[in-house]
Amino acid sequence: MHYVRQVTDDLYWVGANDHRLTLFENIFPIPDGVSYNSYLLLDQKTVLFDTVDWSVCRLFLENIEHLLNGKSLDYVVINHIEPDHGASLEEILTKYPKAKIITSPKAVMLMRQFGYHIDGRTEEVNEGDTKSFGKHVVKFIAAPMIHWPEVMVTFDTTNGVLFSADAFGSFKALDGKLFNDEVNYDRDWIDEARRYYTNIVGKYGPFVQKLLKKASGINIKMICPLHGLVWRSHLGYFLDKYDKWSRYEPEEKGVLIVYSSMYGNTENAVGALAGRIVEKGMPNVTVYDVSKTDVSYLISETFRMSHLVLASVTYNLGIYPPMKNLLMDMKALNVQNRTAALVENGSWACRSGTLMRKFLEDEMKDMNILDEKLTINSSLSEDNVPNLELLADSIIQSMK
Ligand code: FEO
Repeated sequence: MHYVRQVTDDLYWVGANDHRLTLFENIFPIPDGVSYNSYLLLDQKTVLFDTVDWSVCRLFLENIEHLLNGKSLDYVVINHIEPDHGASLEEILTKYPKAKIITSPKAVMLMRQFGYHIDGRTEEVNEGDTKSFGKHVVKFIAAPMIHWPEVMVTFDTTNGVLFSADAFGSFKALDGKLFNDEVNYDRDWIDEARRYYTNIVGKYGPFVQKLLKKASGINIKMICPLHGLVWRSHLGYFLDKYDKWSRYEPEEKGVLIVYSSMYGNTENAVGALAGRIVEKGMPNVTVYDVSKTDVSYLISETFRMSHLVLASVTYNLGIYPPMKNLLMDMKALNVQNRTAALVENGSWACRSGTLMRKFLEDEMKDMNILDEKLTINSSLSEDNVPNLELLADSIIQSMK
């Protein structure tokens, strides 16, 4: 049975939600699901904007059939061919044999690599090209590396709708909602939107900045992404988040503490440090166990917060493996421009602090590492208290 939602007078959401998938891209936990968005424009020509993941193809086909109501499908605009959006393309081509694909030259290359049978079905478009479907005239805008090289976004010059591909998307299933003003975004959505952005697109900040520059030159009234909610009000709120994230500027002044602890002693130490930071005037402190928290959540928090405290035990004369994994992920996703403080623990040959400092200094960009460091031998003792105070003072001072 079909389920669609109207977006404008002649544009419909024809996507679907997936609550069954455990790991998006087989790597990111999505406890609240995800949506695969696709949009159908019923103009003089009928135009589908992107397709959906294979897992929801059946409902997707029913949605389109219902809205077309016997009409043929004329065009499929493919903004992004990654299989979570492109996997149902061949089903569409088979069911609607007259439909032509409008897409970028690189997407055509990728379609062939994925084995899609598209011969004689494609119209390639490039930056700035336009196309009329009747009342609606759309413009194609290249958006490479957001998040694959073939990506473009499509701007409907007639009504100001931007089909933004992965940009401005989010984890989390829609569950009946469609528009940003149908939810409490700051309470229920921003964390999953940030986790989606930072882990999927976070590496490509400079490319996002280029797209934002292009976007500032057009009069966008609505943003229709391929995952998550459609934005039809307060666009500035989300554009501002994207601007901050892609410039690697923290959203908030605050301290993210991530610790590794085998027997609870390092955990106790960061608990004491967190208490002192709060007592000294900074209540915006969050604490995570690196062993228990999926790294995608930690990456998201590194983009949110201005200050990081990394606390690691020494393990095999190195950094505790899950903490090393976090550092590697931070580097891969271009986390930069943060102030970091270090806590190390070792019962003998304590090395984790020195090694974390070396990684932050040598492998990452623009990390301000505080000189004060807390070194614990096995467990926090009275002897550590002066250093604990100094480290907390140093963190507070660096926020001024
Ligand atoms: Fe949602 Fe890059 O695919």
